[in-house]
Amino acid sequence: MIIFKKISDIQAHLALQTKKIGFVPTLGALHKGHMSLINKAKEDGALVVCSIFVNPTQFNDKADFEKYPITTDTDITMLVEAGCDILFLPSVDEIYPGGSENVKSYAFGYLDTILEGAKRPGHFKGVGQVVSRLLDIVQPNYLYLGQKDYQQCMVLNKLTQLMGITNKTQVIICPTVREEDGLAMSSRNSRLTETQRQIAVHIYQCLISIQSKQTTDSFQTVQKECIDLLSEKGFVPEYVSLADASDLTLLDEYDSSLPMVALIAAKLGDVRLIDNMRLN
Ligand code: PAJ
Repeated sequence: MIIFKKISDIQAHLALQTKKIGFVPTLGALHKGHMSLINKAKEDGALVVCSIFVNPTQFNDKADFEKYPITTDTDITMLVEAGCDILFLPSVDEIYPGGSENVKSYAFGYLDTILEGAKRPGHFKGVGQVVSRLLDIVQPNYLYLGQKDYQQCMVLNKLTQLMGITNKTQVIICPTVREEDGLAMSSRNSRLTETQRQIAVHIYQCLISIQSKQTTDSFQTVQKECIDLLSEKGFVPEYVSLADASDLTLLDEYDSSLPMVALIAAKLGDVRLIDNMRLN
């Protein structure tokens, strides 16, 4: 695996490649969820480019940014073992040479007003800023994203439309990788205490219950049950929501004529966890 820190170096290298480029952007602290994206890109026969960049502009919570786990040495080992071809490891100055204030940003409209957009003001603006920069630099044929961050997938799909690159860059969404008990893998899980880690699985169990009750119960009832259960277990639930999976229009009730997705965000101590599940 070749590691590049400078934009000019990675671009000079990529210009000489003939294979299609598969790109996996990350914040590092890699786990099996990230590796599933690398593996998918490999399976697709792409030249695999991974980036690790803890993007300051997408952390609306300064403490979350400061506590974000940095494990670059183990990340590099994992990427080498998985057969990743290129790692892009830029500095903040390399990505935002004139500071982050003047970076071009994109407006995601409705998608930025609901769920994560509402709870984390400025988050998707920051995600759009960094991913548009990275897409300009890497110019991939495939952009691999995890369903774990469902709303982010929709935002970044829209970003490729706004950037006018849908004919060049195809977004590929990969399934959420889970721990044995069902907890979605996340870099933030490493910040949970042992007790919190046992409790964390209830987010997944709520999603299962929302899914399994879709033909028998009203969503309003199941939503309340989930919020009560999460609160009882010690979470501070932020939302337990149901949406049209195609555009994230929020739904008050199950509607089997629509593709549906259930989405949950809840805090356990100071660790904020999100997860989602397609229902039909
Ligand atoms: P990060 O949280 O590091 O995630 C990088 C990619 O891995 C995202 O596409 C995310 O959805 C995917 N991923 C995370 N956990 C996963 C899991 N359990 N199963 C499958 N895929 C999973 O998301 C970001 O970084 C950043 O916002 C980024 C897009 C890199 C922009 O800074």
